Amino acid sequence: MSLPALLDQRLRLPVVAAPMFLVSNPQLVLACCQSGIVGSFPALNQRESSGFKAWLEEIEAGLTPDSAPYAVNLIVHGSNPRLQADLAICVEHKVPVVITSLGAVKEVVDAVHSYGGLVFHDVTTRRHAEKAAEAGVDGLIAVAAGAGGHAGTWSPFALVAEIRQFFDKTLLLSGCLNHGHEILAAQLLGADLAYMGTRFIATRESAADTDYKQMILGARAADIVHTPAVSGVPASFMRQSLEKAGYDLQRLQDKGDVNYGEKLKPISDEAKAWKTVWSAGQGVGGIDDLPSVAELVARLDAEYRAAQGHSAQLVQRWPR
Ligand SMILES: Cc1cc2nc3c(=O)[nH]c(=O)nc-3n(C[C@H](O)[C@H](O)[C@H](O)COP(=O)(O)O)c2cc1C
Repeated sequence: MSLPALLDQRLRLPVVAAPMFLVSNPQLVLACCQSGIVGSFPALNQRESSGFKAWLEEIEAGLTPDSAPYAVNLIVHGSNPRLQADLAICVEHKVPVVITSLGAVKEVVDAVHSYGGLVFHDVTTRRHAEKAAEAGVDGLIAVAAGAGGHAGTWSPFALVAEIRQFFDKTLLLSGCLNHGHEILAAQLLGADLAYMGTRFIATRESAADTDYKQMILGARAADIVHTPAVSGVPASFMRQSLEKAGYDLQRLQDKGDVNYGEKLKPISDEAKAWKTVWSAGQGVGGIDDLPSVAELVARLDAEYRAAQGHSAQLVQRWPR
């Protein structure tokens, strides 16, 4: 239950705006960091490593001494031919936080530690968490059921409780967090930081298409379909966009058509798929507006402080 020195006292709220494929851009990252929360983006949101480097330069030029640190997401998997080049750029730029997905590899952790950076790793099960802890990561991101993107299937209660049995470094909770009281709830559960994705798609700064943002405003949890059909790995998509792209929902629900064993598709196929079929988490039902990031963070802050007051009232109502 701790924050590393690099993050301690540097955040207005215990929040990371999660990296999102084709959604997170420098505008979103800068708005988050300038508002006092960690902003992040996947290196693969730029087609080439040179473009990734240019984004880092843009972000670094826009940060002020008061800004929160930023993070970059690297896909650590054989299907990502850019891993070594992008990692070298992270080392060159001393990216403060590197978020690794799919593979927790000691060499990557060592490279980031060489300049004092932090590595947080995405996990959906205890086994993945144990492997990542062995690789020496500084933090684990518990991606629970209902999250946007490649969501897990475990309840956040079960996932956090099991990880906390053996991991006392930084723990982030991911999945369906929209509101300030949910940030506090994540902390009460045992997490140090809330990891919020879908809520930040519906902001003015995000790179998502206007129709994508509007679809989020209209969607509810019942619209989220968790399926491997789009990218080979189970991920959460809005029913409306699956239908629009011509997927037969009846067949997606039929277990016989679901291929859990398929390897990750090449990055170019993945990009095409995610451009036409839009991902979101089950938290969509709690998102009804398109604020700027500054407005959203100010609101989260007010809600979080109100929730702290509410929990103090609970203590009075349930004295020892
Ligand atoms: C559109 C979209 C794209 C995503 N792309 C990535 C990604 O490239 N890398 C990654 O580690 N996580 C990705 N995620 C997962 C998020 O980082 C985060 O775990 C998740 O959005 C949190 O759940 P929530 O959306 O319910 O808040 C994506 C999520 C969404 C909604």
